[in-house]
Amino acid sequence: MGDPNRANGGGRTDRSADSGPTQEGPAGPPREHEPSDRKPREREASDRKQRRKPTEGERGRETGVAERLGLDALSPLSGRRRWVGGKRPWRVSASMFPAEGTPTEQAQFLVRYAVLAPSSHNTQPWLFNVNGEEIRLFADLERWLTVADPDKRELYVSLGAALENLLVAAERFGVGYEVEYLPGSDSAHAATVRLSVGDREERTESQGGEASGEMSVQRDSQLFEAIPQRRTNRSRYQERPIPREDLQSLREACVEKDVRLQFVADPAKLDVMADLAARADRRQFADPAYRRELGRWIGRGAFGDSWLEAKIGKFLMTYLNIGGRQARKDAGLLRATPLVAVIRTKSDGRRGQIRAGQVYQRVSLLATVLGVETHPMSAMLEVPSLRRELTNVLGNPEWTPQHLLRLGYTSGVSEPSPRRPAEAVLID
Ligand SMILES: Cc1cc2nc3c(=O)[nH]c(=O)nc-3n(C[C@H](O)[C@H](O)[C@H](O)COP(=O)(O)O)c2cc1C
Repeated sequence: MGDPNRANGGGRTDRSADSGPTQEGPAGPPREHEPSDRKPREREASDRKQRRKPTEGERGRETGVAERLGLDALSPLSGRRRWVGGKRPWRVSASMFPAEGTPTEQAQFLVRYAVLAPSSHNTQPWLFNVNGEEIRLFADLERWLTVADPDKRELYVSLGAALENLLVAAERFGVGYEVEYLPGSDSAHAATVRLSVGDREERTESQGGEASGEMSVQRDSQLFEAIPQRRTNRSRYQERPIPREDLQSLREACVEKDVRLQFVADPAKLDVMADLAARADRRQFADPAYRRELGRWIGRGAFGDSWLEAKIGKFLMTYLNIGGRQARKDAGLLRATPLVAVIRTKSDGRRGQIRAGQVYQRVSLLATVLGVETHPMSAMLEVPSLRRELTNVLGNPEWTPQHLLRLGYTSGVSEPSPRRPAEAVLID
């Protein structure tokens, strides 16, 4: 397919209050469950939501071994705060759109697509406040990976992926929008999306994307259909290269001027990256705090394991250092892969990280359309010295690497991972 994401002068604008460096400064020592940069009222509202017990409908049918054994109270799905959700949120389709509903109902429906976004460790670190045609996207800091992601880069990349899904869905239903990044002083407030529900032509004229002088993206409608189909696929990819025209389409998916999509197919460079991945794994798994954090998310069922598998996985992850094994595995995956994409930004601020997440999700959705699998591999970006080495390998050090993924083909199928439903992430 050709040119799916072309910048245009349509009715979609992306505005920003901050294109500079990270607002919060360096992160302090790792903390747990301390959403310090969320306003008290927002924190309270989210806490209220988190305390509410999920209904049967929200839980979905995929409650797994625990429920079948009558151990639901012990299940990772019990306890609001720890809940990673079920698989029911994936069962969403365009025919469910409340065409006759209120603007709030329509906006809330779009959130059902946002929650299907990928996120680091499947933490799903997002909260949404919907008020009429306005959707405010917040970081859920209780889900921040304080050890693996101390500077919150991956948290904001994940928020960007959710934002992208929201915009793809808005376009599918003929809803115009204007995005304001980091609109206030609260950096947990990642973006506000102002929708304009109504006729597409009128909306396009009234929004005037070019008039504001800002970037505007026209998203291919096939991306919408790919939202519930996309998966992270961690299998070994075949050596078969991605055809030139598909590569070109993927390249054109990045239209942001401040974001760069760099492809690496050179075996010598992939070999260096494989070495960086292996060293990152060994370094991280040697740290008990890292293993505990990863183990906690595995134990919550974040990767879609059954209750029993999740508990065993948590135990093994926490108490065994599998760094050597993981290093060999990841290095092997990278050496065999036909292509790695690195998403880089001009500035290392929150805005850039959110926009890197948007590009990641757009590329992943387009890859899904093209039958190409994707697999982020973040470890080498999580260790500052290795991230610097990677930057040297890639060249152009003024462009910061924010995200990195393998792309390729495999016959291995990936199951959908659990998701919190929209109801669980909507806050007052
Ligand atoms: C910022 C970010 C970093 C990620 N890093 C990794 C990684 O290092 N290794 C990995 O296997 N998956 C990684 N993932 C993929 C997530 O684990 C995955 O999105 C999540 O488990 C949900 O699964 P799904 O993508 O199949 O819906 C990352 C995703 C994001 C958004």
